[in-house]
Amino acid sequence: MKAIVYHEFGSLSSGEYKEQSGPEIKSGTLKIKVAYAGIIPFDIKVLDKTIPMPHLKFPFIPGAEFSGEVLEVAEDLKGWKRGDVVCGNPKKYGGAFAEEFVVKADEVCKVPKGMAMSLAAACPVSALAAWHGLFDAGKLEANQKVLIVGASGNVGSFAVQFAKQKKAEVYAVGSSRYEFNVLDLGADHYLDYKADDYLKGLPAFDLVLDMVGGKAQDQLIPLLKKGGRIVSLVQEPNEDLVKEYQVQAHLLNSGPNPKELEKILDQVTKGMIKVKGVEEYPLQDAVQAFAAMSDKDKNSKCLLKN
Ligand SMILES: NC(=O)c1ccc[n+]([C@@H]2O[C@H](COP(=O)([O-])OP(=O)(O)OC[C@H]3O[C@@H](n4cnc5c(N)ncnc54)[C@H](OP(=O)(O)O)[C@@H]3O)[C@@H](O)[C@H]2O)c1
Repeated sequence: MKAIVYHEFGSLSSGEYKEQSGPEIKSGTLKIKVAYAGIIPFDIKVLDKTIPMPHLKFPFIPGAEFSGEVLEVAEDLKGWKRGDVVCGNPKKYGGAFAEEFVVKADEVCKVPKGMAMSLAAACPVSALAAWHGLFDAGKLEANQKVLIVGASGNVGSFAVQFAKQKKAEVYAVGSSRYEFNVLDLGADHYLDYKADDYLKGLPAFDLVLDMVGGKAQDQLIPLLKKGGRIVSLVQEPNEDLVKEYQVQAHLLNSGPNPKELEKILDQVTKGMIKVKGVEEYPLQDAVQAFAAMSDKDKNSKCLLKN
């Protein structure tokens, strides 16, 4: 099979499109003919070592989320057949930027009938991270106030919609160019992070969901009510500030949740949840797709297509 292959850590753009031996099916797994693989910031961070994965074995094929068709079913599995259309984000990272991918059956779900395979590949990581961040770690309830930082991104755009479905009051932080899009997704208030004093005069929040991090995260903790929660997708919140303001802090490490993903995909199919625009690149043009990911003028999700 063909895949995007790496022989050492470095830039995501250094991957080669080449022939590689296909993955072998094992007990409890499905062999998938990949239709689409989504590119996520994690792919970049693993290769450039921002996220340390010292035990990564080379040659390595990156890729976390996918959609595709079942080619082969392990003998010990029931309820699956060749031709089933599935998607997901397996727990063990890597392998989706390829023509074939072997996944654990209990980490993926069937794609609802009629849903485009491209949309199905664009959802798993971002939608589940938003869902886990708001509800598992964040314990968001109706009528609570939530500040979503990075609301114009892939995770943020799902988070805004899920929080509104929960009937929370949503304050979304992003850059001015996306204000219309995020308000269109249902956010009640939009704050431009490039404006002076954009965090002044805000109410106390029950939850802050931060997809951006950096030193600026320290300014978010004092915005919480006593006992409120900050859930960060990128870094451990500042321990001293967490103590000082008597809030709870979580660094989220999201993963597969096929049952929840199936419900989310069903809502996407019915138009109840919108997915940001996607851009498709043939697998062999992955390097162009990786360049598009870092193009600040683009705000769409990049997918690799077989
Ligand atoms: N821990 C986990 O389980 C998990 C899961 C999924 C994702 N993540 C992480 O979450 C982060 C976001 O992922 P994503 O896929 O949503 O990325 P993304 O699509 O690139 O979105 C990031 C968004 O944040 C905006 N932004 C940049 N600086 C900002 C600031 N200071 N304040 C508010 N908004 C700002 C960007 O707008 P501009 O383009 O205008 O700057 C962009 O729209 C990534 O670091 C990713 O690795 C973690």
